[in-house]
Amino acid sequence: MTVTKLWGGRFSSQTDSLAAQLNASIAFDWRLASYDIHASSAWAEELAEIGILTAEEHEKIQIGLEQIMVEVEKGTFRLQSDDEDVHTAIERRLFELIGDPAGKLHTGRSRNDQVMTDFLLWLRDAADEVDASIQNLQAALIYRAEADLGVIVSGYTHLQRAQPILLSHWWLSHFHPLYRDRQHLAFILEQANQMPLGSSALAGCPYPINRFRLAQKLGFAAPSPNSLDAVSNRDAAASFLFFASLLTIHLSRLAESLILYSTSEFGFIELPDAYTTGSSIMPQKKNPDMLELTRAKAGSTIGLLTGFLGVLKNLPSAYDKDLQEDKPAVFSAFDILTVLLPVMTGILQNLKVHSQRAAASIDATMLATEIADFLVLQGLPFRKAHRLVGELVRECLDQGISLVQVSSSRLAEIHPQLPGTISALLDPRNAIERRSQFGGTSTDSVKIQIQQAREFLVRRT
Ligand code: ARG
Repeated sequence: MTVTKLWGGRFSSQTDSLAAQLNASIAFDWRLASYDIHASSAWAEELAEIGILTAEEHEKIQIGLEQIMVEVEKGTFRLQSDDEDVHTAIERRLFELIGDPAGKLHTGRSRNDQVMTDFLLWLRDAADEVDASIQNLQAALIYRAEADLGVIVSGYTHLQRAQPILLSHWWLSHFHPLYRDRQHLAFILEQANQMPLGSSALAGCPYPINRFRLAQKLGFAAPSPNSLDAVSNRDAAASFLFFASLLTIHLSRLAESLILYSTSEFGFIELPDAYTTGSSIMPQKKNPDMLELTRAKAGSTIGLLTGFLGVLKNLPSAYDKDLQEDKPAVFSAFDILTVLLPVMTGILQNLKVHSQRAAASIDATMLATEIADFLVLQGLPFRKAHRLVGELVRECLDQGISLVQVSSSRLAEIHPQLPGTISALLDPRNAIERRSQFGGTSTDSVKIQIQQAREFLVRRT
């Protein structure tokens, strides 16, 4: 089977149907439709300004484009099997609606500058949507930090029990990576604020349109300064994929901890029924599938990034069809984010915290640093204090006793004041409250962090 094309003039035979299938991007670029119409409408205004379109032709084009916009919005636009991409489909429809004047719309532009203009317009809305979803997730973390204030839990390094912390402090530790993600997104938009339209195929537009006015109409800060760069630049796509990768990595790390903390072995939290699944064979099971998929999607998103970077490397100058692969990658990453972010938000809002199990993860050994710090305050060098306490811990392990059970005489050997203070030193709440530095885990410090997080919530940069 063969297919007819809008650009078919210089071809003596039609495109092979499988080749056309490979070439077509309509299956994934249709989501640019409303942006394409918007950009076309601004372009038509410029063509009218310079007399390429008569007032009458311009009006017909505008009416036609408006009608197509309605069809796109209502979902009644009928795609045809030989529509190659969003741009040609819309031009084809415009011709059906208004006839010959439609053929003038493509004067002075190319799909090369058109597609990137559409994409950047899409990116702004997409970024706003993602940013709002990240904000909701951040708000859920603040909610947890407030709701769980007072819950103490073991903090881990190397996944080994390390020092007691407030659970709220831990929740907030997942707030800041998201804040950096939002800053990153804002930077991507700032870089993507140059309008490619009017670069034409590669060499620039030969008609005296005003690109500065056009950029302003389309809401860009300026027209792109070099036409060759403008049609080949896919930094916004690659950056968005990197942004999405890092964001999904942040989500994945949170997911991994939540999976661990919800196991019977840890038992700090219970995941909400609405965000878990059962087993088809084991009736007792409640599986953290959504968190596992969050973890997995980070891998898939990284794959989209590395795949697209592979597409970009070695591309010769200006536009090459390889660049069409930007859209499936970016749109897939966007689709992943628009599901993962609200799901994680729902999980955080609805999970239950088992504060007793959380507190039970703290044992006296984890307070060994407190004893060393006490000795430092008595004038011992920290290294010496560390060794003395290390020896004490080893003795306890050998004897199968806890630090709480060490005899007063043994403690007095280390320092005469130790027997009198040991119980206060081994109280995890005291250890937590001692860490009252800005950024530390004490209640006051965490309250300040909550306050600060609320302020960061509204700001993106
Ligand atoms: N569908 C194409 C893309 O997404 C539009 C640009 C086509 N340009 C061309 N010279 N064939 O990149």
